[in-house]
Amino acid sequence: MYPKNLQNKPKGTPACSRFRCHTSNRCMHTLTLFLSCLCALAALVTPAYALANCPSSCQCDDDTLVVRCGEGTLDVLPITLNPFIQRLVIQSNKIKTIDSSLQFYAELLFLDLSYNDLVTLPQRTFQFQRKLQELHLNHNKIGQISNMTFVGLTVLTVLNLRGNLLAELEQGTFAKMSKIEELNLGQNRINRIDPHAFDGLVNLRTLYLDDNTLTTVPAPSIFKAMPNLAELYLGTNSFTSIQANAFIDLKGLTRLDLRGAGLHNISAEALKGPDGLRYLDLADNRLQVVPTNALSHLERLEELLLGQNDFEVIGSGAFAGLKQLRKLEITGAQRLRSVQNGAFNANTNLEHLNLSSNKMLQEVQENALGGLPHLRHVILKENDLRTLAEGLVPWSDLQTLDLSDNPIVCDCQVLWLRNLLVSKNSSNDKLVGVMCAYPEPMRKEPLSQLSPAMLGCSHSDSKQQALIVVVVVVTTATITGLSLLIYGCRRRIRETLKGGWGNSALGRKEREYQKTCSDEEYMTRQQHSCSLSIQPTIPYTSSSGYNMHQTQPYMGSRPIPVTEL
Ligand SMILES: *[C@@H]1O[C@H](CO)[C@@H](O)[C@H](O)[C@H]1NC(C)=O
Ligand SMILES: *[C@@H]1O[C@H](CO)[C@@H](O)[C@H](O)[C@H]1NC(C)=O
Ligand SMILES: *[C@@H]1O[C@H](CO)[C@@H](O)[C@H](O)[C@H]1NC(C)=O
Ligand SMILES: *[C@@H]1O[C@H](CO)[C@@H](O)[C@H](O)[C@H]1NC(C)=O
Repeated sequence: MYPKNLQNKPKGTPACSRFRCHTSNRCMHTLTLFLSCLCALAALVTPAYALANCPSSCQCDDDTLVVRCGEGTLDVLPITLNPFIQRLVIQSNKIKTIDSSLQFYAELLFLDLSYNDLVTLPQRTFQFQRKLQELHLNHNKIGQISNMTFVGLTVLTVLNLRGNLLAELEQGTFAKMSKIEELNLGQNRINRIDPHAFDGLVNLRTLYLDDNTLTTVPAPSIFKAMPNLAELYLGTNSFTSIQANAFIDLKGLTRLDLRGAGLHNISAEALKGPDGLRYLDLADNRLQVVPTNALSHLERLEELLLGQNDFEVIGSGAFAGLKQLRKLEITGAQRLRSVQNGAFNANTNLEHLNLSSNKMLQEVQENALGGLPHLRHVILKENDLRTLAEGLVPWSDLQTLDLSDNPIVCDCQVLWLRNLLVSKNSSNDKLVGVMCAYPEPMRKEPLSQLSPAMLGCSHSDSKQQALIVVVVVVTTATITGLSLLIYGCRRRIRETLKGGWGNSALGRKEREYQKTCSDEEYMTRQQHSCSLSIQPTIPYTSSSGYNMHQTQPYMGSRPIPVTEL
């Protein structure tokens, strides 16, 4: 190991650095040999640290053994760095070739040469990097790799070749790289993959093949080489369809990304096999119908993205079988116009539903979202919805509700929504305000600021009024009946009270009965005189239903204050 105690190394020891050559590879090569001899010789008399030289655009830390070079114009890999470095990062420079310079850094664990100008990787470029764990060569101009390119990288776990110009993958390219867990081949021009290209990748967990020019999903036999694959990215290719059993051997797959893969249809058996799939992205394809049958195999699916497709309807049971689905996103589906009753009836664990930016979506049927006890987040923004039914969702249970940018008609039908917005304003729930689009006078008015009357609901509380009237009438009738009863039985009462109370008290009681009687007179508008019999109270008590209807218009226009009774 590099001696840790020698921290104040003399900077810019000239022994090796003066031989740096930037002009030609040939010169480079000759000098490299010469230099290695010289350096080896020098190493006999001088400790290695004394020979290390740090280019001006780099930071070289001899304690952590990290060299990090900022954006710059380095066009070759410096060969005079501390030979014991473990991490070397030279991003965004102009390095065109690595040649044999890497041989000086056999202790490297991490090498990042991303965003350079590498064009070719000669055979056995990394043969001395027996300890290298991560190799980042993304965003260069590498046009070809072969089964000799990565020889020696036996403990590599991450290989990033994203953003290069690779067109094909030949037999055994990664053959001896059994430790690789993550392989990124995205954003290349790959259109041909040898059936044995991925042989040996037994520990691969994540594979990016997205953004290439593949026209068919790689054959099942290709995926067979990676039994531990958990995440597969195949988006931005041109597949048109997925054949049956395409992923049959990927039993451990949890995430499948087919976004923008040019899919017109998906065969019913296409998604058989990856039983443990949790996340599926099928957005931005050309699917004409929701692939209900294909999806039904994915019993453990938790998250599904299906936006930007061409289906017009989400029908009843569209996601049958997806019992574990928690999050569903269908956004930017330009032709979607209707979400029908029972659309999500199988998805009783749904928590999060994002149906936004579907410009033609005019209808979410009243029972489309029924029976979803866990639903908490509903995004319906930027659709073409004019109104919403109160029974659609248990709205008050929601933590997020976004109905913005819909042409909402603000009339009495959405009074419930206005009340919801008002009542939830002070809570922590995320409710985005709703702007009216119609009728014209209320355009751009926030719904929550409109009164029931402005929504045309002046008669809407007639039910409530009727209820109050009923209560008043029943109370009146009861009191009247009771009074008359007492009046009718006054003799008995008087006899009962006799002895107990003095005459003066009785006199007062009698005056009160008198008063009640005159109120009753008023109430019944002289319909019957203040008779001593109990008879007149009968219409108010036993057949009250009929009589109340009769009195209602009168009471409605002038309710009798309770204090008058
Ligand atoms: C390497 O590739 C060549 C050409 O494609 C092929 O003939 C050879 O068998 C491959 N070697 C291995 C070890 O896969
Ligand atoms: C799937 O789509 C392709 C291309 O549009 C078409 O040729 C094929 O008939 C379709 N298959 C089914 C089952 O719809
Ligand atoms: C809904 O989906 C759109 C489009 O993918 C996204 O931008 C937005 O963040 C999502 N909203 C929520 C609340 O998840
Ligand atoms: C919520 O309350 C604040 C402050 O009272 C008010 O400014 C805002 O307009 C209200 N929002 C809604 C949606 O009612």
